[in-house]
Amino acid sequence: MDINSLFDLTGKVAVVTGGGDGIGKGACEILAAAGASVVVSDLTVEKAQNTVDEIVKAGGKAAAVACNVLKEDDLTNLIDFAVKTYGTVNILVNNAGMGGGGRENPFRIDRAYVERIYAINVFAPWQLCKLAAPYMQKSGYGSIVNITSMSSINNDPSMAIYGSSKAALNHIASNLAFDYGPMGIRINNVGPGATKTHALATVLTPEIEAKMLAHTPIHRLGEVSDISGAILYFAAPVSAWVSGQVLMVNGGGVQTLD
Ligand SMILES: NC(=O)c1ccc[n+]([C@@H]2O[C@H](COP(=O)([O-])OP(=O)(O)OC[C@H]3O[C@@H](n4cnc5c(N)ncnc54)[C@H](O)[C@@H]3O)[C@@H](O)[C@H]2O)c1
Repeated sequence: MDINSLFDLTGKVAVVTGGGDGIGKGACEILAAAGASVVVSDLTVEKAQNTVDEIVKAGGKAAAVACNVLKEDDLTNLIDFAVKTYGTVNILVNNAGMGGGGRENPFRIDRAYVERIYAINVFAPWQLCKLAAPYMQKSGYGSIVNITSMSSINNDPSMAIYGSSKAALNHIASNLAFDYGPMGIRINNVGPGATKTHALATVLTPEIEAKMLAHTPIHRLGEVSDISGAILYFAAPVSAWVSGQVLMVNGGGVQTLD
């Protein structure tokens, strides 16, 4: 058995949102290391370019483009850029997301907040799936990986909107798997537990960390590399018969905030 070929993405084109930092950057790096040409997108082209520079320095192939996933034109432009630069799209990692950390006061948040969270966590991934799918079908290889969250299955205070938006994306994937399967496209989700990124640093206190670790059998917070491994698994041929699934990568526990 050739283990390397199961994870080989040579000749494949990957598109990642929010690839300038955190889990998105880890996704770009591991997909490039597996041989993919990676379109790294982030709010600014400069931010995306930092990831590209590191990939190129390590011997990989990558190109940077600005994409604010809250702007519909940017979503269209992102897929167009990938096709113009590398010829198609085979892998899409919907990583850019917002919210979480138990910061929603359910009596204070307003409609604009709810719409924003749903726009970035639900509408943008769905729209990118729709834009990328025809290229994936035509190319004969398609794999979509959405980054959701353990919050999509947990019950936590002050997380109703974030948690439900990520749960919606889980449900979108399990349903789209039926539509996309016959087109040769797989769609799966990775649900991280608390993972050490800049986003987590904005909400983490020693008290919150202690609560999380109390329910985490593998007694530590996640590293970006823990999440990247799951992303590569779903993107690569090793998971050729896996679609519509959600894999929680969270140290084995429930990691509730309460
Ligand atoms: N870190 C965690 O503990 C954790 C846990 C569960 C789920 N997640 C999910 O993982 C994903 C990435 O989170 P992270 O912790 O790596 O965040 P991060 O803040 O470290 O990185 C996010 C990246 O996305 C970019 N970004 C922000 N808004 C954007 C937008 N509108 N359009 C395009 N790019 C945008 C940022 O510039 C940044 O480069 C999110 O979907 C988040 O909900 C993270």
